[in-house]
Order: sequence, then structure tokens, then C-alpha cells
Amino acid sequence: MQQRIMVLTGAGMSAESGIKTFRDNDGLWNNYRVEEVATPEAWAANMEIVLEFYNQRRKQLLECSPNPAHFALVQLEDKYDVRIITQNVDDLHERAGSSNVLHLHGELKKVRSTADPQLVFELDGWELKAGDTCPKGSQLRPHIVWFGEAVPNITVASEIAATADILIVIGTSMQVYPAAGLVHYAPHESTKYYIDPAAADNSMLAKLTVIREKAGKAVPELVEILLS
Ligand code: APR
Repeated sequence: MQQRIMVLTGAGMSAESGIKTFRDNDGLWNNYRVEEVATPEAWAANMEIVLEFYNQRRKQLLECSPNPAHFALVQLEDKYDVRIITQNVDDLHERAGSSNVLHLHGELKKVRSTADPQLVFELDGWELKAGDTCPKGSQLRPHIVWFGEAVPNITVASEIAATADILIVIGTSMQVYPAAGLVHYAPHESTKYYIDPAAADNSMLAKLTVIREKAGKAVPELVEILLS
């Protein structure tokens, strides 16, 4: 029976692939606060601004590739049952070859019907425009969990956390819940690592082995240890 590793990743996982994090660059996009654009209210008030926000991020993603941290996590699958739980909406874990990726906050390359949230589609190209409709004739929206919206996959994610033998948290400021709360679901006796160059000292970290280094360097090193 393989040991189970749960990996919780955040924006820092993709930083070295060239994707900006949210709070490292003060969370601004074109002078909008992310918290003001990625919301149902912003969508209702000014759909075009929200569409453009995600179009720009999809366009940027086309120029980005997985980094050594993404590829190292794939190697873990040789010896462990690896479950990636990511707050990221990019597809870099999938493109690196990870077999088990669960997105908590949605997927940038997917869009869904505003009439029926079960109707989810892969977007061709990087642009979603006003007037792009689903087969039921309703406007398509980004398949992203906006601030204030439910996080449907959190239940499955907490069940995975509760069965982890090893927990590795990478590149997240752990400021956004419920994702950040997943750490508390991991069994007391599980081995926990936290990789983040700016990991703050707080009570949550008391149970974690903190590695204050960039993912691109620290993840391959940790994987080598776990595979040896
Ligand atoms: N390697 C590892 N960690 C890094 C690196 C790196 N090269 N560069 C930055 N970091 C760390 C930062 O120190 C920070 O702690 O990544 C973390 C990024 O934190 P945030 O920008 O807050 O991103 P994240 O935690 O993923 O945000 C959670 O907030 O905006 C919402 O829905 C959005 O999923 C996002 C959620």
C-alpha cells in the first residue's frame, strides 16, 4: 500500500513559471484590486472588465511552462499516491504530468454557462467575449470561484487531507479560506512541510517543517529525500 501525499499549492508554485502571485505584487491588476474584479458583483456591474481580467491571464498563461517544482511533484508518483490540491487556476500541474489534480478555485482554461453551472467547456484560445453563449443561449463566464462564491471541491479536498500520511504546502500565504484550513484536516501524526521563502512565523506553522526557499529549488530537493 503506497503512502499518500497531499500537496496544497498556491500562486508561489507558479511564480517561477512567470505567473504573478496575488499578494507579492500587492494584488493589483490594471489598478483594480483582484478582490474587486474577481467577484459576482463585478461581473454583474461590468462584465467586460471581468472578461478582460481573465482574458489577460489566459493570454499570459500561453507563454508560461511548468517549472522544476511542478516536474518534481510528478516524480513523487513513482513511490507515493500523490494528490495535488491547488488554489491555482493555471494548468501547469497537468501540463507537467501530475495525474491527480483538484482545483479549489476553478480553472482558467475552462468556461461555464451562466444558466447551468454544470455546463463546463474548454475554451478555444484565450479570449472569452460578451455574446459568447452556451448551447442554452446564456452568456459564458470564467469557470473560476470568485470571492464570496462557494468552493465546491473543499469537501473532497478535506477528505484527502484527512487521509494524508505526508502533507506538503507550497507557495501559499494561507490567507484565503477554506483552502488554508485544509492544513488542520491532516492527521496529527502526518509529516508536514511548508515551502515558502516568506513563510511567516505563526501558530499554524508550529506543526510544519518550514523551508524558507523558492519552490523551484526546495521542491526537487524535498522530493529527492522522499524518494531516497
Ligand atoms: N516559491 C515558493 N513560494 C513563493 C515563491 C516561490 N518562487 N514566490 C512567492 N512565493 C510565496 C509568497 O511568499 C506567498 O506566501 O507564494 C505565496 C503567494 O501567496 P498569495 O499571493 O496570497 O497566493 P495564494 O496563497 O495562492 O492566494 C490564495 O487568493 O487571490 C485569491 O483565489 C486566489 O487562489 C488565490 C488565493
